[in-house]
Amino acid sequence: MPIEPCTFVVFGATGHLARTKLLPAMYHLEEVNRIPEGMAILGFSRQEWEIDAWKEQMMEILQQRARGGIKHDIAERLLNRMHILSGDMTDAESLKQISDYVQNNANLPNNMVFYMAIPPTFYANVAKAISEAGLNNQENSWRRLVIEKPFGYDTESALLLDERLHKHFDEKQIFRIDHYLGKSMVQNVLVFRFANLMLEPLWNRNYIDHIQITHAEQQGIAGRAAYYDGAGALRDMLQSHLLQMLTLVAMEPPANLDAESLRDEKVKVLKSIRPISKRAVNAHAYRAQYAAGTVDNIKEKGYLEEENVPPDSVTETYASMKLYIDNWRWRNVPFYLRTGKRMAKNSSVISIRFKHPPQQLFRQTQIDQIEPNWIVLGIQPNECLRMELQVKKPGLELLNHTTQLDASYCGLSNSQLDAYEALLLDVIENDPSLFLRFDEIHYAWEVVDPILKSWDTQQDFIHTYASGSWGPDDSKLFDRDDQTWRNMIDV
Ligand code: BG6
Repeated sequence: MPIEPCTFVVFGATGHLARTKLLPAMYHLEEVNRIPEGMAILGFSRQEWEIDAWKEQMMEILQQRARGGIKHDIAERLLNRMHILSGDMTDAESLKQISDYVQNNANLPNNMVFYMAIPPTFYANVAKAISEAGLNNQENSWRRLVIEKPFGYDTESALLLDERLHKHFDEKQIFRIDHYLGKSMVQNVLVFRFANLMLEPLWNRNYIDHIQITHAEQQGIAGRAAYYDGAGALRDMLQSHLLQMLTLVAMEPPANLDAESLRDEKVKVLKSIRPISKRAVNAHAYRAQYAAGTVDNIKEKGYLEEENVPPDSVTETYASMKLYIDNWRWRNVPFYLRTGKRMAKNSSVISIRFKHPPQQLFRQTQIDQIEPNWIVLGIQPNECLRMELQVKKPGLELLNHTTQLDASYCGLSNSQLDAYEALLLDVIENDPSLFLRFDEIHYAWEVVDPILKSWDTQQDFIHTYASGSWGPDDSKLFDRDDQTWRNMIDV
C-alpha cells in the first residue's frame, strides 16, 4: 500500500536535535527514495526566518553531515519540501498559522506529524496548544505526536505528563522515541536471540554468570548544560537507552512481532527488576563526575569548568548500577549497567559472560586457567557480534587460548544507517513497534527512582574521574572479585 504523505511539523526546527539528527536523517531517507511523494516539512520556530535564509542554513548543515558528501540534487529535492513558520508554540492562536498555511497551500498534505524537538518542559503545553488550535482533529486525516526523551524526570512527573498528553491525544497518536531502538545492532539482539536455536538453551541463570551493558562516550556535555545539569547520566542514558537494551537482552520471546506483543514482554522484564531499597542504594549504584584530563591526546576541562555549569554542581556524568531480575530465567544473575561522558573511548557494548564449566578437567595439565566464554554484542561504533571460545593452541603441548568467532561484518566500518532514519520512517508509516508504550517508561522510572531520591539528598559530595579514563573505581558493585568491567570488544 502506498504510504500516505503528510506535513511533518518540526517544533524547534532550528534547535540542536533538528539540525544534528532530524534533518540529516530526512536527507538520507530522501537519498534512498523513502520519503513519500508529496510529503512536506514545516519548521516552526520562535525566531523569525525568511525561507531562503533558513534553507541556506539547512544546506550548510547538510554539507557537513551528509554521509559520503552531499549530493546537490538530493539536497535540493529535500529543500523543496521545506516551509517555515514562526511564533509561540505554546499559544493556540500562533499555532493556527499551521492550519491556515496548510489550507492555503494546496500541495501541503492534511495528515500531520508534530515532532517535539524542544525542551521537555514544553511538551505538555505545546500538546495543549495544538489541541486548542484544533490541529489534533483527525477527521479526514491523521495526526501524530512524536515525543523525545526524557519523558518526565521521575515516576511522578512522567505520570503527570502522560495524563496531560492524553487529554489531547490518544495513545495510538503518541510516538515516544528512544533512539536506541532504531539502532540496527540493538534490533539485532532480537534476531540473534530468537532466530538462533543454539542460544536459547544457554540464555538463562544456569549458564550465564552476569551481563554487562556499557555506553561510554568521549564527548562531554557538548554545550547542553542547561538540560544536562538538571538531568545527569542516570536520567539521560540509563533510565532510557540502557534499560531498553536490557529489556531486549532479557525478555522472553514475544508471541509475534507486533508492537503490543513486543512491548508486553519488555514491560514484564522491567516489572520483574528487584526494587532497590533505600538502604541498598550505595551497594547498587555509583555516580561520579568528570574532572579535567586528556581524551585522545586532547586536554579537556572538567565538568565544573564547562560553560553554564554551576560551580558546586554534583550532577553525575557517570552512573553505574547493578540490577537483578527476579524471574525464572534470570534470578540472581547480576546485570551491570554503566554510562559515562568523557571516557577513554566511544564504545557501546553488551557483554554476556558465561559460567565456568562445572568440571575442572584440565587441572593436571599445562592449561592453567580456563577463561569463561563471552558473547559480545558491539552496538557502536563498530557493529559486531562475537563469541569467545577456548581452543587448544597448535603444537605438541596441551595449552589453550581464547579464539573469537566473529559475525562476518565484525570489524567493518560504522553502520551506514542512523537510528533516526529508521524511526522517522516508522512514524510516517505508522509502525509503533520501536517506540515506547507509557508503561515501559513508567516501570523504567520505578527502577531508578530510589537511586535518584537518595542521590538528591547527597548534595555535598560526588566522586570524580579523570577525563579520558574508564571512569571511577566502582568495583564495589560487583558480586565477586572475578567480575570486572569489560571495556572494549577486544580484551
Ligand atoms: C542522548 C543523550 O539521548 O543520547 C546524550 O541525551 C547522548 O547525552 C546520546 O550523548 C548518545 O546517543 P548516541 O546515539 O550518540 O549513542
